Amino acid sequence: MARGYIGLDIGSHSIKVVELKPGKGASWRLHKFGLHKLPAEAIVDGAIMNSSAIVEGIRDLIARHKINAREVITSIAGHSVIIKKITLPAMTDEELAESIQWEAEQYIPFSVNDVYLDTQVLNRTSAESGQMEVLLVAAKKDIIQEYTAVINEAGLKPLIVDVAAFSIENCFDLNSESAPNEIVALVNVGASLVNINILSSGITSFTRDINMGGNQFTEEIQKQLNVSYEEAEALKLGGNISSAQSTTEAIVPQEVGSILRSTSESLAVEIQRSIDFYLATAAGLRLNRVVLSGGTAKITGLVDALEGTLNTKVELSDPFRNISFNPKEFDPDYLKDLAPMSAVAVGLASRRLGDKPA
Ligand SMILES: Nc1ncnc2c1ncn2[C@@H]1O[C@H](COP(=O)(O)OP(=O)(O)OP(=O)(O)O)[C@@H](O)[C@H]1O
Ligand SMILES: [Mg+2]
Repeated sequence: MARGYIGLDIGSHSIKVVELKPGKGASWRLHKFGLHKLPAEAIVDGAIMNSSAIVEGIRDLIARHKINAREVITSIAGHSVIIKKITLPAMTDEELAESIQWEAEQYIPFSVNDVYLDTQVLNRTSAESGQMEVLLVAAKKDIIQEYTAVINEAGLKPLIVDVAAFSIENCFDLNSESAPNEIVALVNVGASLVNINILSSGITSFTRDINMGGNQFTEEIQKQLNVSYEEAEALKLGGNISSAQSTTEAIVPQEVGSILRSTSESLAVEIQRSIDFYLATAAGLRLNRVVLSGGTAKITGLVDALEGTLNTKVELSDPFRNISFNPKEFDPDYLKDLAPMSAVAVGLASRRLGDKPA
């Protein structure tokens, strides 16, 4: 049987690896899964600062989980990627491929020479008006080179570089369905980034990455309770630091709870701003569903804060829902615990080749 592909999500907090095999019928079976925590600041603002930590992390995952596959599907995110829905005169794919190089210039803040461009035609239904809607993706070459370099150095072969916002859509498609005319916001809250992808009738209509995430919670605890970053992180995860090397008086859990609540509120407001920006693009748009993923989805209170702010039901993403696995190989509780942070990696691993090469 041919060797499979590795979905590799290099996040700023941890690297996640997922390998899927075809299961019964059209479904998938979990073949490999692993997570490697990175040291602080290994990735800052999407840029790789500590490449050896990442190379070691990838090697550790490959060795520890005895992964034989070598070809990697990975993703990038943040301000080095621009995704825009643009309207162009109706044209064939060949014409689009030819003209996009000079069409793109006006839509992106970088020189077209510094980016890789990709397009996806969203609809040609308005062809009678002589126009079509196209999703334009521009990713900075230098960031792609940074990510492919660490993957090469770890002994693997980068095959596709996708965008995190699209991977969470792949993951959603695997596990859920959206109804016609439904507007669904996929929101992935990691450590340093929030990836948003708004689907309208199941098609991406808007994406945005916000520079916020779980780090904000840790930093607020650190600042307000005057503890170290590590202590703040432990408190955030529900731990107790009174037995650790704490230099402070006993921390009252209520204080942590109220910081988590207030930070959840401000994060929810930022997410609302992006969603409102999209909803304001046409009359009558209404948000129907929110699907939340990412490690920070585990903060108690974030779901409530989002539901209150967005006035919409918020569901937690369940990336492994339609993926079968052998409970002798994978502890169901462990998978359940890590499911929120696995959305991007699952989306990458389930990407079919030829789908949308970057
Ligand atoms: N049980 C938990 N409660 C609260 N926060 C948690 C919990 N588990 C993990 N987190 C937080 O989730 C974040 C990591 O999530 P995730 O793995 O999605 O991020 P990442 O992909 O590594 O980072 P990014 O995509 O932002 O660069 C960290 O901030 C971590 O502290
Ligand atoms: Mg992430």
